[in-house]
Order: sequence, then C-alpha cells, then structure tokens
Amino acid sequence: MSFALSQTQSYPAWRSRWVFILAATGSAVGLGNIWKFPYITGENGGGAFVLVYLLCILLLGIPVMLAEVMLGRRGRQSPVNTMRQLTSDAGLHGFWRSIGWLGVLAGLLILSYYSVIAGWALAYIPEMGKGTFQGAGPLESQVFFDALLADKGRLLGWQSLFMLLTVGVVAFGVVKGLGVAVRILMPLLFILLLAMLVFAYRHGDFGGAAAFLFDFNFSALSGRSVLEALGHSFFTLSLGMGSIMAYGAYMPATASIGKTVLTVAMLDTLVALMAGMAIFPIVFAHPDINPAAGPELLFVSLPVAFGAMPGGLAIGMVFFILVSIAAWSSAISLIEPAVAWLIERRGFNRFTANILLGLVAWALGLGTILSFNDWSGFTLGGFTFFGAMDFLTSRILLPLTGLFIAIFVGWIMPHVTVKEELNGNNSLMYPLWLWVLRYICPLAIGVVLLVGLYDTFAMAS
Ligand code: PFF
Repeated sequence: MSFALSQTQSYPAWRSRWVFILAATGSAVGLGNIWKFPYITGENGGGAFVLVYLLCILLLGIPVMLAEVMLGRRGRQSPVNTMRQLTSDAGLHGFWRSIGWLGVLAGLLILSYYSVIAGWALAYIPEMGKGTFQGAGPLESQVFFDALLADKGRLLGWQSLFMLLTVGVVAFGVVKGLGVAVRILMPLLFILLLAMLVFAYRHGDFGGAAAFLFDFNFSALSGRSVLEALGHSFFTLSLGMGSIMAYGAYMPATASIGKTVLTVAMLDTLVALMAGMAIFPIVFAHPDINPAAGPELLFVSLPVAFGAMPGGLAIGMVFFILVSIAAWSSAISLIEPAVAWLIERRGFNRFTANILLGLVAWALGLGTILSFNDWSGFTLGGFTFFGAMDFLTSRILLPLTGLFIAIFVGWIMPHVTVKEELNGNNSLMYPLWLWVLRYICPLAIGVVLLVGLYDTFAMAS
C-alpha cells in the first residue's frame, strides 16, 4: 500500500479505492464471519435468522456504512476529531461528537474479548500440527476444547500473544503490514473455505445444513433474534465503531463511495455464508454436536472434519492460521481510532498510544478469560462477563452509534455537504439512500434498541 497526496486535501489518501476495499474488507471479515455468524445462527434456529440478518445488512448496514465512510472522508481525521470538526463547522450541538467517543469505547471493549477468542484460534494451530485431532470424534474434540477453556494460563498466554501481534502492527505502521495481509491472505482464506465447502459437501449432511440455513422457519424467530441479527450486521461490517470512518479518511476524493461499500458488504456476507455452509454439514452429520452449542461451535465441529480428512491436519493448521490473520486485521481496525485520537489530540507518539490502549484492552480481557472458568458461575442479569461485553457492544453500543450516525447524516448535517462528498453518486440511488437513512434506519434501529433495553431490564429484575 502506498500513500499519495490527494489533490484537494492535505491529508494523505490511498492511491485507489481498491486499497480502501482491501483494508475495509480486512476489518469486516474476521471472527464475526467465521466464528460468530455460524454460532448465533445455530442459537437462533437457522433460516429465518439468516433472512433477517441479510435484510439488516441490506437495509441498515449498507446505508449506515455509506454514511460512515462519507463522514470519514469529509473529516479526514480520526473519528473523534472528524466529528468534532464536522459539528463545529456546521455550528451543530456538541452532542454529536459522542459518535466518535462511543466508537472509541466500543472498540476497546470489543478488542478485550476479541483477543481472547482469537487466542483460541492461535492455540489450535500447533494442536493441528501435533495431530491432536487425528481421527477424533465430537466427544474428544469437546473434551479438548473444555480443557483449553478451563486452563487460565494457556488462555492468557494466547490472548497476550494475539494482543502483542496487534499492537505490533499498529505501532510499526498499519499501512504496509495490513496491505500484504489482506491482498494475499484474504484470497487464500476464501480458497480454503471453498475447499472446506467441498469437504462438507462430500462428507457432511450438506442438504440438512442448506435446509437449516435457508428454510425460513419463522416460528424459531423471537424478538431477541431480530435484535441479535441487527447487532451482528453492525459488528460484521465493523460499523458504529469509527473503524470504517477512520479508513474512510484515507479514501481518494474521487472514488465512488457507493460501489466501494457494496463490494465490501458483499464480500463480507459471502464469507459468512460460506463459513455457515462449511460448518453446519459437519454439525448435522454428527448427532453429538449441538447446532445451538454457542461460542464453541467452530472449535469443536471443524477439528472433527480436519481429523477425518486425508491431509486434513495440515489443512486445519492453515485454516486456523488464516482465521487468526482475519481476526488480526480486524483487531488492528478496532484499536486504530483510539490510537489516532491520542496522537492527534493528546500529542502521544504512536508507540506509546498503542501500548497504553493495548494494555487497557488486555486487562479487560482478563474478565473474559475468567468468565470461561473461575467466574463461569458468576452472572449479572443472566450474562457472564464475556456475555455482558458482547451484549453491551453488539446489541447496545454499535446500534446506538449507528442510530446517531443515521440521524446526524440524514437529518442534521447540511445536505449540500453530504451531496458534495458523495459526488460520484448523483443517480437515483442518492434520494433512495437518503430516504432509507432518514426513516427506515432510525425507526428500525430505535425499535430494536428499545426492545433490547426492555429485555435487559426484564431479565435483570
Ligand atoms: N467486523 C469484525 C468481524 O466481523 O470479526 C469485527 C469488528 C472489527 C467489529 C472492527 C467492529 C470493528 F470496528
């Protein structure tokens, strides 16, 4: 990736929109697609949930993503300062700056548990190499996973390693390291997922999985599932957090934001659906694996498949390396907005800012590690520490910031400014997008947030 100054701004811009697409895809494609999407689909009964999720991506995710990239390119600073400048330029109330702040907070909270789960993926790399899963059935696989979760020291070691890798890249320059990772390794991840689809087709219950994912049985869908689908559509596209806004700041002035955003959203959705179709055929071929098992689904079911394939352990090793890399490029984007803010506003150097924020997220991550062992019986309103972090970020903070972004861009920000920044999008799509952003997004996100808050209080009392 190389920088070239754009003609109209003094802020450096990436040479082409493809670099933005790669970086944004690196942020979007991560544990959310390969780990979280399959397991929450399993927990929420399959098909109808997938349909609601796809609708959320189309009707809420893509319009909000467009707005977020537009804000970033307009402000050309860290998200906190972008919001500060856009509000003061237009003489707007300082409240709207909270979009930047909420994002920084959500990023650190997500990173705290994201690094623990990414640590699981790292832990599986040597296990694949050692042959732990050779010929293993679902029960052995489950026993191995339970032992990993019970071992605080191992979890801490892998989480710390992942955090070091993340902080390392951000400290020594996001641009080069990330560029290589997304350009070479993302296509590789895609190819491997395809190979696993073929395996699942030949050895798993492919028809059963397809029926589970794509037969829309609405009786399995609850209000909570809808809330979860919306939260996940924001999580998987990295929205409501400032990451996409931060990357938008580097987008060339002339690139079409609309086409770019569509490409990223399509790639992200494709990876999630492929992961679902790689995992569920194996789940349904083994009666001992529960599709609603939750966070352990990927880590218990796939190793069984790798252990049974010829050459599967080597493939498994490469697979977990790629999952770790996908998580890595997402984690970088989780910490970047906060780092950029500390540098711009507080005069920190990049290295110190990074170490400081990395330490905060690492320390918070200890709560997630303990929630799988010593604190597993300790719950608040029905949530473990990990569950509470996940709920607070995916179902409250990200949608809340998304709601503020939709209202700010749809109703508050001067339209001439919005239109000018979206210069490439003068077609029919502009009024359609604006309409969705002004009416559909605030209404849908607002209702879903209210129901979520109500549910939380009802559960707690
Ligand atoms: N989109 C990432 C995933 O699906 O794994 C997670 C994520 C990254 C969420 C960056 C939010 C974010 F700002």
